[in-house]
Amino acid sequence: MLRKTVLPVTAIALSVLLLLAVSACSGKTQTQGTVTTDSSTTSGSASDARKPLPALQRSASFTDKQWLGKQLFFDPNLSQPSGQACKDCHEPAAGWADPNKDSPTSKGNTPGLFGNRNSPSVAYASFSPDFHYDARRKSYIGGQFWDGRAKNVADQAKGPILNPLEMSEANMQSVIDAVKAGAYADLFKKVWGANVFEETETAYGDLAKSIAEYEKTSEVNSFSSKYDDVLRGAATLTDREKRGLDLFNGKARCSKCHTSAADPASGKVLFTDFSYDNAGVPKNPQNKFYTLGAKYNPAGKDFVDLGLGGQLKKPSENGKFKVPSLRNVALTAPYMHNGCFTVLKDVVRFYNTRDVASAGWPAPEVTENMNKQDMGNLKLTDSEIEDIVAFLNTLTDTKRPLVK
Ligand code: HEC
Ligand code: HEC
Repeated sequence: MLRKTVLPVTAIALSVLLLLAVSACSGKTQTQGTVTTDSSTTSGSASDARKPLPALQRSASFTDKQWLGKQLFFDPNLSQPSGQACKDCHEPAAGWADPNKDSPTSKGNTPGLFGNRNSPSVAYASFSPDFHYDARRKSYIGGQFWDGRAKNVADQAKGPILNPLEMSEANMQSVIDAVKAGAYADLFKKVWGANVFEETETAYGDLAKSIAEYEKTSEVNSFSSKYDDVLRGAATLTDREKRGLDLFNGKARCSKCHTSAADPASGKVLFTDFSYDNAGVPKNPQNKFYTLGAKYNPAGKDFVDLGLGGQLKKPSENGKFKVPSLRNVALTAPYMHNGCFTVLKDVVRFYNTRDVASAGWPAPEVTENMNKQDMGNLKLTDSEIEDIVAFLNTLTDTKRPLVK
């Protein structure tokens, strides 16, 4: 993906090969056909009319910086042309992930353009430690994005606004101009200083820090799921959910990576250890990134997402992606870095029989470095798979901000 890369978006006429598959990664029924899309758009056109901010509530506990960050997160005017906000791919009602379930990866602001990866949830992302190598655990840990290429949430927030496949702003100056024209321009100066707009790069960093502060609030990380009530002793799991939890922590080995014990740094149960693994996820033929022209995807349909290994240029990390939190997972379909699976049950079925030849799963996208100890042949029954899914359904937050 193209972070901090600024490419002019001009008229594009793509003649693309579209791959259609009934169930993206199941390996069943796949047909191919040629489709021509003409997605002509010109950026920076005079018709770049500003869009209204949605009606937002300021929580009583917010600092000015957090309130500023919230308005930036929901502002559709930080894209070119105006129309796409962070929240469009990270919608509170959709577990802070992409509400559009028709595509495995997110639509960019420019018609016809798509990113190469599935939008993860923004909720609980700020608990990820700064990206680093842990010598004791012999693993890279933390950071943001599926491949950890941003150190933390403040660093991350600088990416999508300038990404031509996402919000596609031309440069930092055009973003700051949009901020200056925004309803919260005075608040921005109040928080970051009266002269803040004079230094574009500093102001851009301050914008990102404001968003990061919002992402750390309890509005985004509400810990308001049924399972949180259970941990507080205010609710009880059904028999099925309880069996699912026991399998999650035991026979199914999920908690080896999606940790169910409290994170030592925050004391919170986050369902990730922030490490990286190759789960052997197959390519997703429905990933529309394959259909983008050479300008964005020189490899065409042969594109292979190397994840952490691609980012670090280290073959020993090829195919590894950050272990995602499973909070709100019932709301965040599709699943995995490439949106390969559309329902939770298929994710668990995949972990259960990935390495059982007769199960017929397609080949992994990257075969090197695949984790074989903790997944692949779990010998779960269909009923046990249902139990695990029932438990995962208890991780859905009940409190989300009302945004009109
Ligand atoms: C067009 C859809 C889209 C828009 C708009 C968008 N994102 Fe994302 N976001 C994504 C995708 C896709 C990824 C994963 C990309 C990757 O791993 O390479 C991501 C990753 C993230 C992550 C990392 C989460 C994690 O667990 O690693 C955070 C945080 C985030 N986005 C916040 C934001 C913020 C803040 C904005 C606005 C400034 C924003 N996003 C705008 C699609 C989008
Ligand atoms: C060895 C570590 C490991 C184990 C064990 C593991 N996972 Fe994962 N899980 C991952 C990684 C890494 C990903 C992301 C893989 C990718 O996108 O290529 C992931 C992704 C997921 C996702 C998709 C989440 C999303 O937002 O897209 C779900 C759901 C999930 N795992 C559930 C489970 C369950 C249930 C179990 C137990 C049956 C389990 N995992 C066992 C490492 C693990």
